[in-house]
Amino acid sequence: MSIPLITLNDGHQIPQLGLGVWQVRSNSIVPTVLTALEAGYRHIDTAAAYYNEEGVGRALKQSGIARDELFITTKLDNSDQGRARAALEDSLTKLGLDYIDLYLIHWPVPSSRDRLKAWKAMEQAQVEGLIRSIGVSNFTPRYLTEIINLGGTVPAVNQIEYHPTFQQTQLEDTNRYWGIATEAYSPLGMGSAPQNEQIKQIAKRVNKTPAQVILRWHLQAGRIIIPKSVRPSRIVENSAIADFTLTDSDIAAINGLHTGNYLGWNPEAVN
Ligand SMILES: NC(=O)c1ccc[n+]([C@@H]2O[C@H](COP(=O)([O-])OP(=O)(O)OC[C@H]3O[C@@H](n4cnc5c(N)ncnc54)[C@H](OP(=O)(O)O)[C@@H]3O)[C@@H](O)[C@H]2O)c1
Repeated sequence: MSIPLITLNDGHQIPQLGLGVWQVRSNSIVPTVLTALEAGYRHIDTAAAYYNEEGVGRALKQSGIARDELFITTKLDNSDQGRARAALEDSLTKLGLDYIDLYLIHWPVPSSRDRLKAWKAMEQAQVEGLIRSIGVSNFTPRYLTEIINLGGTVPAVNQIEYHPTFQQTQLEDTNRYWGIATEAYSPLGMGSAPQNEQIKQIAKRVNKTPAQVILRWHLQAGRIIIPKSVRPSRIVENSAIADFTLTDSDIAAINGLHTGNYLGWNPEAVN
């Protein structure tokens, strides 16, 4: 499997495909991450709020893969925005790492302005080498502008909900304008998108699975993707997306599936 690398605005490179591990329980996190690493994944997306950083760290160690071949993302929990440095150190300890490749503010949290304090702490930790790239998640244009107006580092990544029935194209354009890479979370619509009849028809025609068609659609649009699965066969399936191309009409058909409804949460409502 050959996974393309995307160069971020700070010069670091991120594998365009990673394994998401939200809702992967403590009894399956080690085998799940090991399966992905054996299948060729080198990018893992976790968060303090997923309560599985220790398991991710155990799997990384067991794999024996050199640190510089791995790309590990974790996220600052909402309740920790006022103590970002300490929370980062907790994550480093749990993951058993000296540095995080990509550290994200998980949600903007409208009720507080601690996200700005957190950003400054993250910039400092980046200077000290504890983080390679710093970014945000669930940030709408007004929160992006607020961070950029601090006059320091522009986020490298904005990780947002993005799948066939919820295509945040305007936010993606805003990210692009600022040189921020768009990372699609819930890229399979939390497992619902592969059930779509139109996607199933495209999959039949190109002799791929519906999930592979959706992930390929993201890939061709240049988005970073982090599908989650705990099933070894699907982890492998989700990575076998480099050997076919969707036509413009396939892409247009999937673009037409947008409904505008979040499957997850509106960031303005998460405090
Ligand atoms: N920043 C944020 O606020 C945020 C929010 C949500 C998610 N995320 C990140 O994004 C990652 C992915 O999002 P997600 O977990 O919400 O949803 P997702 O990756 O879109 O979908 C996961 C679901 O799809 C199923 N699935 C996986 N591969 C499949 C395949 N080939 N065919 C059919 N079904 C398949 C999985 O079931 P099985 O496991 O049973 O295979 C699971 O139920 C998360 O793990 C997390 O890392 C971030």
